Amino acid sequence: MSELTSAKLASSSRVEMTQFVLPGYANSFGNAFGGRVMQWIDLAAAMAAMRHTRMPVVTASIDQLAFHGPIRVGQIAILKARVNAVFGSSMEIEVTVESEDPRSGEQRLCCDAFVTFVALGKDGKPAKAPLLLTETEDEARRAAEAAVRRAERIAKRPRP
Ligand SMILES: CC(C)(COP(=O)(O)OP(=O)(O)OC[C@H]1O[C@@H](n2cnc3c(N)ncnc32)[C@H](O)[C@@H]1OP(=O)(O)O)[C@@H](O)C(=O)NCCC(=O)NCCS
Repeated sequence: MSELTSAKLASSSRVEMTQFVLPGYANSFGNAFGGRVMQWIDLAAAMAAMRHTRMPVVTASIDQLAFHGPIRVGQIAILKARVNAVFGSSMEIEVTVESEDPRSGEQRLCCDAFVTFVALGKDGKPAKAPLLLTETEDEARRAAEAAVRRAERIAKRPRP
């Protein structure tokens, strides 16, 4: 791994991505297709990871992806991504997806997920990511909870 680079504030890499749900994004029920929503989640998380690291990053895993409700065609999908914790080369990004009715403005939580990205060095191998600086109690709590999830992920990794 490369040398430690400078630490970054958790608040500095947050991403908000909005997407109007066109008919081409829908399943046969008129709701945003789950695979499309997963693509948006991966994209929003990748942007947060790149903002934090300013390095090339790859998706290592997506877990606890849950769809709580549909996003209808004609609604706005709002994706919010934040880096919860940085470990070595890997980091956990939390993504939430809300639907917004463009007429009423009503917003509902539709989906959330935890995505692990890995930063790569010039050699294409995992490389140390900048440390994450938390400023609020909420950010510190998220980092502590992410560490517990990471331990569970590592325990589930297939052994060579
Ligand atoms: C993710 C990847 C870079 C890890 O490489 P690796 O040779 O297994 O490297 P290591 O075992 O040294 O692990 C590197 C880091 O990745 C983490 N990691 C590896 N697999 C993981 C998984 N399935 N879930 C979560 N974290 C994982 C490790 O915990 C480690 O984190 P740390 O540096 O913070 O301690 C490699 O498996 C890969 O390239 N996968 C394909 C990525 C891809 O194509 N994604 C889709 C398109 S972007």
